[in-house]
Amino acid sequence: MATKDMSIGVLDSGVGGLTVLKELRRKLPAENFIFLGDTARAPYGVRSEEEIRKFVEQMLCFFDTQNVKLVVSACNTITTLGMKTLQKAHKFGLIGMSKGEKMVLSASKKHKIGLFATQFTVNSHMHQKAYNAIDSRVQVYGVPCTKFVPLVEAGKFGTPEMAAAIMEYTDAVKRAGVDVVILGCTHFPFLQREIQKSMGPNVQVIDPAAETATDVEHYLIEEGLYKMQGTGSTVINFTGDMEKGKKLVAYGMPGEQFTFNKLTLK
Ligand code: DGL
Repeated sequence: MATKDMSIGVLDSGVGGLTVLKELRRKLPAENFIFLGDTARAPYGVRSEEEIRKFVEQMLCFFDTQNVKLVVSACNTITTLGMKTLQKAHKFGLIGMSKGEKMVLSASKKHKIGLFATQFTVNSHMHQKAYNAIDSRVQVYGVPCTKFVPLVEAGKFGTPEMAAAIMEYTDAVKRAGVDVVILGCTHFPFLQREIQKSMGPNVQVIDPAAETATDVEHYLIEEGLYKMQGTGSTVINFTGDMEKGKKLVAYGMPGEQFTFNKLTLK
């Protein structure tokens, strides 16, 4: 049976999930987190569903061994697969990425939303369906930003290549006349400042990580699993290059303390 003192697992194809981990740590400072980024096999968003499901099952089997009360899919691509279909025999709870419905729908006056995501997530229409369940007027303009994930994984911030990719993708949604852009891939908040700058002051660029952290908080309270006392710790596992991974952790969460592990998934 799950108890308050058990850890919370957080998974992603790579370093993108760190942007969600950051919000979770801020919102739930007493909780212990175990992060797993499958950096050896990122990106997932250009792979087949069958392959992604196989990799996710391997990650969930790792969490079976970690005494976790809950696992957060800090990955939109994985979230499109449906948490119920991934749950199988795993005993912990499973929560996916929020589509940022509250923030997005209250920020948009034009009902025109730009979606920056992986090819897989854009094809799923997950965001369009979630917004239309609340407001049928909403139109989503999905842009598969396939260049972003490899550039973020390689830490190529502030490079001409990154600037060109940002220009290409922001131009695409500017033409559609959106007034909100949702970052539908957890790698993209690493670039939020630059994307916001390129979109200009009349478009709001939204990261749904805070809404995801609120969903997690509500789940823990409802299940009686909310840990309020103590100072939490975080272990970060990567399957790929550890030095590269550590640099990106330091870039995204400067000055914070973590324990690192290299992991092999089978
Ligand atoms: N960070 C992931 C997401 O939110 C996946 C990126 C990828 O591996 O393609 O979609």
